[in-house]
Amino acid sequence: MNTTVTVLGAGYVGLTTASLFASSGIKTFLVEPNESRLKSIKNGRSFFFEQGIDPVIQHGLESKNLIPTDSYAESVPESDFIFSCVGTPDRPDGSSNLDFVFSAAKSTIEHMKPSAIYVQKSTVPVGTGEKIIELFRENDHSAEYVSNPEFLREGTALLDTLWFDRVVVGGDNKESAQKVLDLYKHLETKRESISKLADIKTGEENGEYISTSLASAELIKVTSNAFLAMKISFANSIAKVADATGADINEVMYAVGSDKRIGRQFLNAGRGYGGGCFPKDVSGLISSSLENGVDLDIMQAVQDVNDSMPSYIIEKIRAKFNGNLNSKKIAILGLSFKSGTSDVRKSPGIKIANLLSKEEVEISAYDPQAMSEAAEDLDKSITLHESLESTIEGADVVIFTTNWPEFISYPTDKIASLAPNSTIVDAMNSLDSSEVRQHGLAYLGVGKS
Ligand code: UDX
Repeated sequence: MNTTVTVLGAGYVGLTTASLFASSGIKTFLVEPNESRLKSIKNGRSFFFEQGIDPVIQHGLESKNLIPTDSYAESVPESDFIFSCVGTPDRPDGSSNLDFVFSAAKSTIEHMKPSAIYVQKSTVPVGTGEKIIELFRENDHSAEYVSNPEFLREGTALLDTLWFDRVVVGGDNKESAQKVLDLYKHLETKRESISKLADIKTGEENGEYISTSLASAELIKVTSNAFLAMKISFANSIAKVADATGADINEVMYAVGSDKRIGRQFLNAGRGYGGGCFPKDVSGLISSSLENGVDLDIMQAVQDVNDSMPSYIIEKIRAKFNGNLNSKKIAILGLSFKSGTSDVRKSPGIKIANLLSKEEVEISAYDPQAMSEAAEDLDKSITLHESLESTIEGADVVIFTTNWPEFISYPTDKIASLAPNSTIVDAMNSLDSSEVRQHGLAYLGVGKS
């Protein structure tokens, strides 16, 4: 495709977007200021673990379509599209910190050609696009602005982008929005070959292309994540009722989710959601709604339930030991915020480990991909191990905080011989409780009394 794209920011979204566009034959600059990240990408390697992404980066580099750089001056002037994929971390008060969003837009203005289209992929509160358009006009720039929210999940980033449910574009200029859609339509024509290259599974159905107003597109992104977070907190609330009444939350949610109006996904009760999106998108939506005079107390409840889950699980463990955890050996399996990624942002596993470290207990922990990332956030009293076996050896309690395949498929008889008579805490409700009990181990799930 004869067009040039610049992607600003090589995070999960930026690196995925840039490497896929480049692999589909589009000349794509990827601007990343962080030296070590840039070096890793130039060597054909992602700086985070994501299934299939390295071969796609390498293909982009070999074809010379992917051009990693730290320079706006090298990339932006010849680009028809500039995709802003910079981070929007949360502030201590829960609102979104938009410093990177505005500084990326400011740095772009002086280099961008008048006909360029500025595409916002970073998650921003509704109303941000108008402010950036104002910034462009103040600087006498005629660039068009299109909001193009991102829906990929870490761990399945390539699959989600190639076999999307929907691509949303929002903006006042329909022609510009259509041009952005055309990039994705081009990518869609290459998805079979890119999936082969990445060695990832392919999807089944074709997604939808949706064009909306600018404000709607901005609100769609946070609303999607808020709704999914609400499903999880709802399932976790009902899990507490199941614990109190003898019901099994997995049975409940399986049957509830079989109603097509509800659906089964994101009703898996457990230790709550973490990651770089749900926690900050929920707090960001609460905060930006308040700024617009709307008290979104439903989302406050979602956040409160989520915050309560790690200590809820710890109290269940304490009750199992008659209220006393002193001198117990506790093994934590899983430190990333979910399986399939090395990302530890707002990781429930780390939260549980750090809460437990305040007790008189001995904690060992392990993750197949996130050890160095987790080390910084974990309390220094926690011992990191190099294998699942050494982590659980001699443990009184083994907590499965993520459902990494190597954890949940690990033979129960081996757990029983390494940690005899231990209590298995299934914080993601992914194990077979009767199989655990058959091996003489105690089982604690969430909502599976
Ligand atoms: C999420 C959205 O799914 C994605 O569309 C958006 O672009 C970015 O935010 P991600 O953060 O990568 O993606 O992870 P996701 O798979 O959604 O999981 C988020 C958290 O919820 C994880 O901690 C996960 O373990 C937890 N979760 C998910 C549950 O506790 N129960 C569930 O049923 C599903």
